[in-house]
Amino acid sequence: MCGIIGYIGDRKASEVLISGLSHLEYRGYDSSGIALMRGSDVQIFKAQGKLKNLIEILKDKEDVCSSAHIGIGHIRWATHGLPTTINAHPHTCDCKSLILVHNGIIENYQELKEELTALGCHFVSQTDTEVAAHLIAHEYGKTKNLLKAMQQAVKKIKGAFAFCAIHKNEPDRIVVAKRNAPLVIGVGQDENFIASDIPAIIEYTKKAIYLSDGQVGVVKKNSIEIYDENDLITQNKIENLPFEAIAISKMGYKHFMLKEIHEQSDVVRNVLSGKLISHDDKIKLEEFKLTPEKIKKIQRVQIVACGTSLHAGMVGKYIIERYAGIPTDVEPSSEYIYRETIADENTLVIGISQSGETADTITAIKQVKEKNSHIIIITNRADSTMARLADSLLPVSAGIEVSVAATKSYMAQLISLYMLAIYLMEQKGIEKYHDEIVNLKQELIELPNKIEALLENTNDIKLLAKKYSSYKDFIFIARGINFPSALEGALKLKEISYINATGYGAGELKHGPIAMLDENMPVLAILNQGVVYDKVLSNCEEARARQAKLIGVADYVAPKDKDLFDDLILIPHVSDILSPALNIIVLQLLAYYIAEYLGKDVDQPRNLAKSVTVE
Ligand code: AGP
Repeated sequence: MCGIIGYIGDRKASEVLISGLSHLEYRGYDSSGIALMRGSDVQIFKAQGKLKNLIEILKDKEDVCSSAHIGIGHIRWATHGLPTTINAHPHTCDCKSLILVHNGIIENYQELKEELTALGCHFVSQTDTEVAAHLIAHEYGKTKNLLKAMQQAVKKIKGAFAFCAIHKNEPDRIVVAKRNAPLVIGVGQDENFIASDIPAIIEYTKKAIYLSDGQVGVVKKNSIEIYDENDLITQNKIENLPFEAIAISKMGYKHFMLKEIHEQSDVVRNVLSGKLISHDDKIKLEEFKLTPEKIKKIQRVQIVACGTSLHAGMVGKYIIERYAGIPTDVEPSSEYIYRETIADENTLVIGISQSGETADTITAIKQVKEKNSHIIIITNRADSTMARLADSLLPVSAGIEVSVAATKSYMAQLISLYMLAIYLMEQKGIEKYHDEIVNLKQELIELPNKIEALLENTNDIKLLAKKYSSYKDFIFIARGINFPSALEGALKLKEISYINATGYGAGELKHGPIAMLDENMPVLAILNQGVVYDKVLSNCEEARARQAKLIGVADYVAPKDKDLFDDLILIPHVSDILSPALNIIVLQLLAYYIAEYLGKDVDQPRNLAKSVTVE
């Protein structure tokens, strides 16, 4: 998390920095700051809260803003220390000569702080970044060279970082370094840019150098030098950036989240395009690099992901096991990385990530790479760190997702997993589900129209949201392939409305959670005609008997059962196996309208960030 930006050239640095930070706000938004350098004069401006607070402060600093052409900036998601102005970046050393912004976590910052304190350094913030600033400054004292100081400092730092530093004595350069945190250098004509992510610089340049872990760079107006871990000069490829400078706009929607929910029919079309031509064609998945012979040897699948992507992975388990007949484990990346995992060359590992920058998932993938497993990455960012680790890259191309709450990227991940499961089945020559698959393919082709039909009439969901917005707790239940939908629906509600919501397998209700049920605990049940329909209905009866308010999301409820529900949202019919793709839209909308009704900051909920680049 946290966003970094840097600029050196002839433009007004403040404008580039603020524009860049506005495109990085998804990475954190609890405070921000910039440092502007004019010769040996450096001015630092910081503000607590959203970026608009910093912009407000800069309004009467026109003098420095219009005359500085070098600067670095930062938008923060707090890890060490409260989200206060003092903890906001940039940070400096005692003599204020070295100025630093940082993304990541310095794991040995306490030890370093003790050593530096013993050397006479004084700390004003609670951050790990300030420790790094003092450390680099201390090394500068010995070397009188910012590059060398950075090279020495990073050797002493454990943990993850992307650094961007300037020094008053070297006003012609920005020195950068990276390890396990994203950093890209945008290459311009007589100007250069540094950023955590491409959207921050794409309006200025389409060419960039990606730093690799362990590299340190010196960025000047007309040159870029990169050094490897052994401090030897090296050459990184200049790459063409995969984006157009698109105006990221809400297109008339009140929030990005609502816009992104409404984009999901097109997202499905995009994912299917070129892969699923018609119901009687085989799936084409050119991105998948394993031969049919190797696919036949796969003994197990392991899916690693976090949050919403993890829920997509849980749906993936159902369909991969059913169609491809391969035992599939799904695990939060943060758990996977701290135990002995069993994987080998006959294991297929699937990393799922919207951002492609989630630290836990990157670590899991790096660990398993050493075991020679084939690694598929399903991501919305083909330019991400995770994408670069892939043996087979499945970009989902959902388009930039701005709202912190993942919606359309989840849909894209789901559809990609359907494609993958069917592809594995077809490559293995499994015939058992032939007719079912023909039907599923047809349903996938028709899915965008059904999504549009659902989205055309959302009044019932709006009314439901208003009716239930005052409840403090929610339970979501489902079984089978919709169990992950219950988890995802609950996650959506809690992350944007701050209402306590938990998803359970409906069969688990009676093993504990039922104790919480009374008239103050709404239970939302997901029912689709399929193997578990009657079972979920029975679980609804159990909830009803405890006087819980009962909301049903279903494709069908028999007239005799309708009275069981206080409220019922009926959705277009799809087969049970594909129903997670429609059910989730109702749950996304319900969460959205409740949060909106409560006046919450829907697109930027408190304490969260879009890209979780710390473990
Ligand atoms: C979803 O709404 C959340 N913002 C969060 O759970 C997210 O899915 C998780 O942090 C994983 O991110 P990734 O998909 O970018 O790896």
